[in-house]
Amino acid sequence: MSGLFRCRVCGGGAREFLDLGRQPLSDAFVDPAAPGEEFFFRLAVGACAECSMVQLAEEVPRESMFHEGYPYLSSGSTVMREHFRSLAERLLKTELTGVDPFVVEMGCNDGVMLSTLAAAGVRHLGVEPSGGVAARAESRGVRVRRDFFDEDCAAAIRDAEGPADVVYAANTMCHIPYLDSVFRGVDTLLAPGGILVFEDPYLGDILAKTSFDQIYDEHFYLFSATSVAAAAERFGLELVDVERLPVHGGEVRYTLARAGARRPGPAVGRLLAEERERGLTHPGTLEAFARAVARVREDLVALLRRARRDGQRVMGYGATAKSATLLNHCGIGPDLVPAICDTTPAKQGRLTPGSRIPVVPPTAFGPPYPDLALLLAWNHAGEIAAKEEEFRRAGGRWIHYVPAVRID
Ligand code: SAM
Ligand code: TMP
Ligand code: ZN
Repeated sequence: MSGLFRCRVCGGGAREFLDLGRQPLSDAFVDPAAPGEEFFFRLAVGACAECSMVQLAEEVPRESMFHEGYPYLSSGSTVMREHFRSLAERLLKTELTGVDPFVVEMGCNDGVMLSTLAAAGVRHLGVEPSGGVAARAESRGVRVRRDFFDEDCAAAIRDAEGPADVVYAANTMCHIPYLDSVFRGVDTLLAPGGILVFEDPYLGDILAKTSFDQIYDEHFYLFSATSVAAAAERFGLELVDVERLPVHGGEVRYTLARAGARRPGPAVGRLLAEERERGLTHPGTLEAFARAVARVREDLVALLRRARRDGQRVMGYGATAKSATLLNHCGIGPDLVPAICDTTPAKQGRLTPGSRIPVVPPTAFGPPYPDLALLLAWNHAGEIAAKEEEFRRAGGRWIHYVPAVRID
């Protein structure tokens, strides 16, 4: 593969290393009563030779992904609710101790993080373009601006509310191709001693676990400490802390301050050195990843065909956005996985994008249970295994495909 394209951050030359083919919008669940034409685009990913940012080759218009009907609810996982509560508590003790501090969150979704700050009486604002989830945040006492965060939005917030001590984003920064506009907005909005904190799936984990399903329309960037440090520098910011997080299959929480305002902690140098030693974005590393992806696809399809031939009952577990990439890249449809259960009301009764597999509520999982369950929400494995102990006791087995295909 030799596709070249221009890096969205620095304008340098980026080279494709994986083409996942024609893909639908990962969260556009299809109404079976009005299936219509789905939107498809070419999902390919490349690395910039100049700044090492890993990014999609094609951009999907933001309004087609984030709108009134955007289905994803952050509060659907107990582990994630606890994760965000504990982050909010930490911010309260460390960054938000001054007089009348102000926090802005991009992509606050249903208020999973800001609801803790709101309950503590902290001045805050969520910026959330998806109306349905924004309304849920508001019903929990969270203030929301229905908007896309970018430089215009940041300037309007600064004018109306003054500077922010913390600008925060979880699983949102990597969704935003116009990172230049976001960084200019942060520059406008941030107080002199303020920080930008964001956490997203980590390229190092994605490569180590062959979790190629982390690549989809909404995940425009796959960040590393190296690429984030370079991007920060371009916009007058500095990477001052990094923290590995176990959630969503392995993430990093990056803390950025104005250049020179804070002394970088030792974890930054350590992670940068580790990435250099691993040759994280060297062509050889990325080619090996592409080969590992092909292997997962072959093994998974072979396993599901065998199960069908043997008359075993299979169900998918968790209609994640990630699963759109897996199912469409592997050509898995209702013939191999007849249904997928999911707790999200807005996904139930619909068909998965592209692969058109019916999404059913968790009550349809059993009893009686299927023989095999394809764990699509693998990033919530611990929580789901605990919830579904009865399935294992009844003889059911999980199909895993991260980091490789196996049954247990
Ligand atoms: N922060 C939550 C979490 O970690 O669970 C939500 C993550 S969700 C995957 C991404 C959210 O970002 C969506 O609710 C989406 O509407 C929102 N979003 C997308 N682009 C945005 C932008 N430019 N500014 C603010 N929010 C945005
Ligand atoms: P995520 O991996 O992007 O967080 O999406 C998880 C999906 O899995 C979401 O659609 C909700 C669903 N889910 C369940 O169906 N059952 C569960 O126990 C959990 C944690 C998630
Ligand atoms: Zn670049």
